[in-house]
Amino acid sequence: MFWLGFLAAPVAVQAQFSTTMLRFGCSQLTVDRIDPLIEPGNVPSAHVHQIVGGNAFNASMPSTDISELASCTTCTFDQDLSNYWTANVYFRARNGSFKRVPQMVNDVIGDANAGITVYYTAPGRNTVTAFKPGFRMFSGDVARREPTGLGQRVQSCYRCYDAPNFGGNIMAPCMDPQRDTESFPTKPCPGGIRSSVIFPICWDGQNLDSPNHIDHVAHPVNGPAPFAVVDGKCPDSHPVKIPQVHYEVVWDTTAFNNRDEWPEDGSQPFVLSTGDPTGYGQHGDYVFGWQGDALQHAMDNNCFGPTCNGLTTQGFSKANQCTVPPAVAEDNEGWFDELPGGHQIM
Ligand SMILES: *[C@@H]1O[C@H](CO)[C@@H](O)[C@H](O)[C@H]1NC(C)=O
Ligand SMILES: *[C@@H]1O[C@H](CO)[C@@H](O)[C@H](O)[C@H]1NC(C)=O
Repeated sequence: MFWLGFLAAPVAVQAQFSTTMLRFGCSQLTVDRIDPLIEPGNVPSAHVHQIVGGNAFNASMPSTDISELASCTTCTFDQDLSNYWTANVYFRARNGSFKRVPQMVNDVIGDANAGITVYYTAPGRNTVTAFKPGFRMFSGDVARREPTGLGQRVQSCYRCYDAPNFGGNIMAPCMDPQRDTESFPTKPCPGGIRSSVIFPICWDGQNLDSPNHIDHVAHPVNGPAPFAVVDGKCPDSHPVKIPQVHYEVVWDTTAFNNRDEWPEDGSQPFVLSTGDPTGYGQHGDYVFGWQGDALQHAMDNNCFGPTCNGLTTQGFSKANQCTVPPAVAEDNEGWFDELPGGHQIM
């Protein structure tokens, strides 16, 4: 189980295992109610998202090479102008009011401002084909309110942090039966709650996107690959192995751990910006935007962590200055009578 040590000792792990694993922070670019993947052009879109990456992001960004449209990125690698986004989490107080849950970053990521920790993994050198300009995909099911029954192959989960900064628990996401759940944790989490969203690892080799943004990619024939496991036979329909993209988002729920403000029936108080009170419907959106062959280079050269020979990085003091103005003028910080967009909780 190599991941037992990889956070604390990435160099030792790199020496011991051949896994290629980019792992880097991306600060918040914006929080906004737009969604160029699912609802291009709609301002506002259905629900609020938190978005990181390049500043070409807007409601109607074209499906072209966005690395040529962006002039800055909130991500660690200068070459990564991709966009990554997820739904937001809201706290619903006992009196029925809502407040957006802020995000935080694990210490190991440095001074990123909220945002997402992004991973790209491959089993070793020259084992995956990087995405092409214009590639987009989606992982998850917004309408899901039930477990998938996938066990440790689940592609989306939450970890209840026992203490700040992941409480020292560095087991791979969705693999810790004590702390990982497919739905929101049912008890207060003293260190916050981490969301993990894992994307498929097989591609049809032809289409940069598909009508539901899922069908051009697929899981291996024996089921979805757990985090950092990029093996398994791809189906004949989707024969091309791609890097495994994985998002981590840490929700700072610590201001909302007072059970006196939780529902009187003792149920947990968090909802997704989609109105989902279970958490099963969490999802991730991905728009590829690496320059040239930078991602292929990182995958082929066995790069590990937040640096890679041949690529350049920026500090977070610079990354944090990259933002885009919100398209929808609405308050994201106060207490609200309803979720933005008026979603019913269901
Ligand atoms: C989005 O960005 C593209 C190019 O980057 C631009 O052509 C388009 O006008 C922008 N759309 C909006 C709504 O700002
Ligand atoms: C509801 O409860 C929260 C938390 O105690 C409080 O901050 C908020 O002002 C309350 N909202 C209303 C409308 O009373």
